[in-house]
Amino acid sequence: MRLESGLRFGNYAVVATLTATGVIWLMADMLKASEDGELWQAIGANMLMLHGLAAMIALVLVGAMIPMHLSGFWRARRNRISGAAMVGTNAALMITAWGLYYAGSDELRTFVADVHIAVGIALPALVATHVVLGRRSTRRADPQPASAERGRVEPLTGVVAGFVSPTRTPPPCPPPHTAEGAVAAE
Ligand code: HEM
Ligand code: HEM
Repeated sequence: MRLESGLRFGNYAVVATLTATGVIWLMADMLKASEDGELWQAIGANMLMLHGLAAMIALVLVGAMIPMHLSGFWRARRNRISGAAMVGTNAALMITAWGLYYAGSDELRTFVADVHIAVGIALPALVATHVVLGRRSTRRADPQPASAERGRVEPLTGVVAGFVSPTRTPPPCPPPHTAEGAVAAE
């Protein structure tokens, strides 16, 4: 149930873009009163525009992940704790993003923005933990190497140059009608 590579890359790209634009906006916001204040204000506005675009794409991706990733692994009881943390974190980011637009008072908006930023900064570490734990649970569930890996043939040049050792093919099992097999059966 490995994610299709487009969806996997999309997830990583969107998390990286959201984090980078969010962090650069924070820097720009701190520097807006400096000498180059105008430049930083323009940078900040552009970062927020990109952030909003990435956020919309993130919503599409999370929607696609529900039938393609979440429901299957949830039923299979795999990586549930960090998976639930991923769902909770994404939900918190979406709810606080909504609050950034519609919070009624300045105090509430400041609180909502602080929560959004704190959860947002924690997101990359959570994603990394989720992926590491998820892959570990996959290895535990299926300790056999993937079939592509089993059938792998190293390029001859690599073997000759000593960079890779040749794949060891397991000896074939004795057929049941051999003398050995017959003795074992008695
Ligand atoms: C918004 C929610 C979620 C997001 C964005 C997400 C994202 C991801 C990504 C990007 C990967 C790496 C996939 C790969 O390398 O092919 C992954 C792996 C994994 N996730 Fe999630 N996930 C979410 C929720 C969940 C939930 C709820 C569960 C389980 C109940 C779960 C279980 C797993 C497992 C088992 C793996 C390892 C799969 C493998 O070995 O390739 N995830 N997740
Ligand atoms: C699913 C994930 C996320 C969604 C849906 C989301 C959405 C949004 C939205 C809609 C805004 C308001 C933009 C505007 O005012 O034009 C915003 C602001 C912001 N976001 Fe995110 N975001 C997400 C993840 C992140 C992450 C990972 C960070 C990392 C630092 C982050 C940091 C920020 C910051 C610093 C602001 C500006 C806050 C302010 O105006 O006071 N966000 N976000």
